[in-house]
Amino acid sequence: MEAHGIDRLSQRDFHRLADFIHGYCGIKMPPAKKTMVEGRLRRRLRATGVNTLAEYCRYVFDQGGLEHERVGLIDAVTTNKTDFFREPEHFHYLLEKALPELLTTHRVSFRSPLKFWSAASSIGAEPYTLAMLLSEISRANPDLHYSILATDICTEVLHSAKLGIFPDDMMAPVPMDLRRRYVMRSKRDASRVRMVPELRRAICFGRLNLMETPYGVDRDMDVIFCRNILIYFDKETQRKVLDQLCLHLRRGGYLFLGHSETLAGAGLPLQPVATSIFRRL
Ligand SMILES: C[S@@+](CC[C@H](N)C(=O)[O-])C[C@H]1O[C@@H](n2cnc3c(N)ncnc32)[C@H](O)[C@@H]1O
Repeated sequence: MEAHGIDRLSQRDFHRLADFIHGYCGIKMPPAKKTMVEGRLRRRLRATGVNTLAEYCRYVFDQGGLEHERVGLIDAVTTNKTDFFREPEHFHYLLEKALPELLTTHRVSFRSPLKFWSAASSIGAEPYTLAMLLSEISRANPDLHYSILATDICTEVLHSAKLGIFPDDMMAPVPMDLRRRYVMRSKRDASRVRMVPELRRAICFGRLNLMETPYGVDRDMDVIFCRNILIYFDKETQRKVLDQLCLHLRRGGYLFLGHSETLAGAGLPLQPVATSIFRRL
């Protein structure tokens, strides 16, 4: 449908897309998001060789294109906003309270590292923040062994995260001493920086859809960051995801949610210990 020369989605096509997106990755797509979805899907037209959003929906839903297009569609509609040291009180709590506590209860060794999981990692600012802080601590304490897993549903952000390349202006929240040690400048392109290889190697990146269970990750995580993703889900989906995350957190482990996120419903084996931080009972 075209209004004033702008390619628009019909209500029917928008509903078909919204139902698919919600069912596949949990993200709510109320009518207010129609313009956003239109804008984001326009970049899929060229990739799929069609000219209009109506043709795109016909290809995806009526002509069997979904199988091929699923990843591209989901990549296009996910919101990947993130920052280094986002919600800095969380990292403060991690260093001051959670880590000392974990190190007294968990006998850490090369074979039994502390396990961190960033469960909706976007382009990697969150796991790289963790990696810088943990690397700093292990400089003073070589017995600190740890692993960092970073997952997301969006393949584009994972590709970018693995490269570890960021716009220079994203570095503003990173303390200068950490920048000196972990961030490389390019002589050719002053607008981009890259995390040092040691840090890139410290993180294992992989695709994981929080809606698809069981999750193929360890069940004895010490710390899970699942921040600023539950807000996109409805209450029922939030609850299912939280139930699953609890299965992967070992007793005494910590779950960090986004500041605007709460536990959906009661009865989870989690005890609040600070704002949007929970400990597995
Ligand atoms: C707003 S970003 C949050 C990034 C980071 N956790 C932070 O707080 O800065 C939300 C991320 O969740 C991802 N996402 C959306 N639905 C998902 C799902 N079903 N499973 C896994 N990741 C998902 C998106 O691709 C996006 O990168």
